[in-house]
Amino acid sequence: MAVQIAPSILSADFARLADEVAAVADADWIHVDVMDNHFVPNLTLGLPVVEALLKATPLPVDCHLMIEDPDRWAPGYAEAGAASVTIHAEAASAPIRTLREIRSAGARAGLALNPGTAVEPYADLLAEIDMLLVMTVEPGFGGQPFLDVVLPKISRARDLIKGRDLDVWLQVDGGVNTETIERCAEAGADVFVAGSAVYSADDPAEAVRSLRAQATR
Ligand code: DX5
Ligand code: ZN
Repeated sequence: MAVQIAPSILSADFARLADEVAAVADADWIHVDVMDNHFVPNLTLGLPVVEALLKATPLPVDCHLMIEDPDRWAPGYAEAGAASVTIHAEAASAPIRTLREIRSAGARAGLALNPGTAVEPYADLLAEIDMLLVMTVEPGFGGQPFLDVVLPKISRARDLIKGRDLDVWLQVDGGVNTETIERCAEAGADVFVAGSAVYSADDPAEAVRSLRAQATR
């Protein structure tokens, strides 16, 4: 699968979201971090802002739910029109039901794993998802350094996906920049979330192009 770049608006100017998403028109996705101050120690935005954003961008929106009880909330994001909705394995109490509900609402279903969560226990769930998100920082904040310790898990996840002959995208999120993206791509990731690497750059559009170039090398 071709490399896909998903700028995270967590590092954007929240007062100018429409302009900030327009600035990365060459990206493949807009990644939206929903945080509830419980699953992670930070609070961002919820469904009303996602609904407004869906009207403000032609790009597909990728919602990363870092919230407790995603079973209750995730289908609503898919019904609102998010093209992809990702729930955390650590937070879901009925992941199979919730992932199926996301898919029946017409969105791609994603499962996220924190850095300390092994992928092997979730091998059988790969058939239920469209994307596996391997976190490369502890979730909650942008601008943290990339955790190299997670690289072997990315490779193992890619092997599990290949071994089952599944078309599951493998996303990485956290500390992804023009330097670390190559290692992620080599390990088998194909969807790259980048917050500070895009929105702290002088030219976000150029940052997206550089990331894509580095991941495709
Ligand atoms: C962190 C979020 C990320 C965040 C990444 O918990 O899930 O999407 O925006 O930010 P950077 O790319 O700055 O590490
Ligand atoms: Zn994220």
